[in-house]
Amino acid sequence: MGGLHKGHAELIKVANQTSLGESKRVLVSVFINPLQFGPKEDFESYPRTLNNDCNLAQKNGADAIWAPSVNEIFPNGINSHFSIKVPKHLTTHLCGSCRPGHFDGVASVIVRLLSLVKPKLLILGEKDWQQLVIIRHLIDDLGLPIHIKGVPTIRDKHGLALSSRNSYLKANEKETALHLPRLLKESAKDVKNGLFLNKEKLSSKLEKYGLKVEYIETVDPYQLQPMKEGKQLCMLAVALKCGETRLIDHTFLMTHQPIVAIDGPAGAGKSTVTREFARRLGLLYLDTGAMYRAVTWIIQEKNIELNDDDAIQINLNNLDIKFEVSPNGPQTVWVNGQDVSNIIRSQSITKLVSKVACKPIVREYLTTMQRRMGEDGGIVAEGRDIGTAVFPHAELKIFLTASASERAKRRSIDLKQRGLPVPSLKDLESQITERDNLDSSRDIAPLKKAEDAIEIITDGMNIEAVITKMLNLFHSHIPEEVWPTTY
Ligand code: CDP
Repeated sequence: MGGLHKGHAELIKVANQTSLGESKRVLVSVFINPLQFGPKEDFESYPRTLNNDCNLAQKNGADAIWAPSVNEIFPNGINSHFSIKVPKHLTTHLCGSCRPGHFDGVASVIVRLLSLVKPKLLILGEKDWQQLVIIRHLIDDLGLPIHIKGVPTIRDKHGLALSSRNSYLKANEKETALHLPRLLKESAKDVKNGLFLNKEKLSSKLEKYGLKVEYIETVDPYQLQPMKEGKQLCMLAVALKCGETRLIDHTFLMTHQPIVAIDGPAGAGKSTVTREFARRLGLLYLDTGAMYRAVTWIIQEKNIELNDDDAIQINLNNLDIKFEVSPNGPQTVWVNGQDVSNIIRSQSITKLVSKVACKPIVREYLTTMQRRMGEDGGIVAEGRDIGTAVFPHAELKIFLTASASERAKRRSIDLKQRGLPVPSLKDLESQITERDNLDSSRDIAPLKKAEDAIEIITDGMNIEAVITKMLNLFHSHIPEEVWPTTY
């Protein structure tokens, strides 16, 4: 909407850093959208600084600035065009609850702007988090071929989130306004240290400084529904009035770095895509299937009967089992000093593993180990029960699946590449189906889609398409501010 400042400059810089091919052009749009202002709001007084905006955009590397009139965006008048109604659940909280119709106005104009510009990539600030989330849902829902990228909030040296509306603040109000980011930062620190958030106390502290609180809410950052701070990433958002100026700001409450859980049946291509997904995001990669395979290998090596729980337990207690989790390559698995990474993929282990994985003592042992490895987060773990049992509080849960015939084809290619014997497709398909049945019918932590997992059916999708889809999901669930993209 113009009134450009360093926050917008950052968006332009990010646009320049993002590779989109040779013909990339960075366009800055400036449009003060009448549809998103309520009757008593500041449409008339909103900062109009087009000359300054042009200078700032050019200085920071924009190729063009586009400042259309209302008539250009809505020829024949605003009412002669379609308008968008944002689904209720996305607007019942935060700014949506106190600015009725605001996000409908934003969405209606965004769709017009996008249809006129047809950008490949849309860059938006995370400062207006609810707006960013709504636009993500909108683009997804309309199936527009546009990628969205969020950019963390830029603050001045005192911590105040930059906003065009900060220009309304009088000198003494600028000082007062700083209590908002300060107290938000303090709250995030408290939660990280295991303390509870007391919203009433936070509100009265803000009021004590003369700030008039409009809302203080904790919500799930993707669905924007109320949630209590706890193990899962949560957003604490505040709107208030400092004098006559309305300010919004937020912080993310978290006790660990993000965790991504990827589950799904045998041979859905989880390992390949998950490893690359982890590499691109700089997350640690944990292949829990390899752990069950390693335990199966030791049971087989030592000729232990599957019903001999005592022998299994003794071996688990004495097992020197190491999983070298690496941010780049495949996970190396060592058992009693031996690298078993390859041998655990053999047919004899594959045939036995699901029977071993049914055993409560094995599950308990490995689940504890996996939780310990993922304690601090910053990890993507793949398996069968990650989202349901190992990390039920994971920030993002994906259920990756494909038809049994597609999975058999992929398994056949995989075995060939590893130089291992390749059974017929028919045999592979029945092995896979048998393993699916065993995995999903066992009593403890069976294979099933977690309620809040997002399913991706990968039939007909190549590896890159699956990874892109997963990266998009990651970025829509986890703010750049929490886990920044590295260029
Ligand atoms: O063959 P694929 O790569 O699809 O499977 P895997 O990820 O190597 O897992 C091998 C087996 O370990 C699965 O079929 C399950 O029986 C078991 N498993 C499990 O029970 N729980 C996990 N979190 C991971 C694997």
